[in-house]
Amino acid sequence: AGPKPLAGKRVLITAGGTIERLDPVRYITNDSSGKMGFALAEEARALGAEVTVVWARTELAPPPVAEVVRVESAQEMYDAVMARLPAMDVVVKAAAVADYRPVQREKVKMKKGPDKLTLELVRNPDILQAIGDWKHEGGGAGANKPYVIGFAAETGDVEGYALDKLRRKRCDLIAANDVSEPGAGFGTDTNILRLFGAEGLVESLPLQSKREAAGRIWRIALARAPGLRAVD
Ligand code: PMT
Repeated sequence: AGPKPLAGKRVLITAGGTIERLDPVRYITNDSSGKMGFALAEEARALGAEVTVVWARTELAPPPVAEVVRVESAQEMYDAVMARLPAMDVVVKAAAVADYRPVQREKVKMKKGPDKLTLELVRNPDILQAIGDWKHEGGGAGANKPYVIGFAAETGDVEGYALDKLRRKRCDLIAANDVSEPGAGFGTDTNILRLFGAEGLVESLPLQSKREAAGRIWRIALARAPGLRAVD
């Protein structure tokens, strides 16, 4: 076993795609497999952290970490993350969270009806935004301020959108993937990432396994915040 720079640190990682139900058998989701989040969890565990994984729908089972919390919807993920926030040293939001959910969730299976059906959707809470706000304005102001790493799944102007998300959602580091690039983003065993801090590009991670990329992300976070508490 190698060095354990995350020993004694509590780390919360979200993984997978949320499920937003229409009725008992149908839902809206996305292509997240959970691989990126689980790789971050495996690496954090290998580096000595006490890891909590909050996971929604995935292709794989979560790794055997200290605590696994299964959720379905964005709202459930929000509740699970916010309840644990004060105890955490680091939070990583690798999950793909649905921005919208159906207004109506039917209790019984919907029946076939007219040729056209319009779904009405309503905004979900933005968990990363809530974490950033809590940290800077709410209960997190003061002693306990977890280091917060967000992700950004983009196509097109990756840098512009990622930096905008970093500033708006007030995270310490953001890992951006261009999900239109082959070998990057949803479902693959590999990723291509660019890490941004408030000052701009921190490091580019060329095509590599999600596990290797996860290891790099931890090294970079540790180099930037040795005690892994955010600096204001
Ligand atoms: O799971 P894999 O198949 O391995 O794929 C990995 C991945 C592509 C899912 C991952 O690398 C990734 O990019 N995850 C974030 C996906 C996403 O939702 O990105 P976004 O740009 O829509 O959101 C930006 C950030 O805000 C993310 O950290 C997201 O978790 C968070 N968010 C978004 C919406 C919301 N309602 N709440 C949030 O917390």
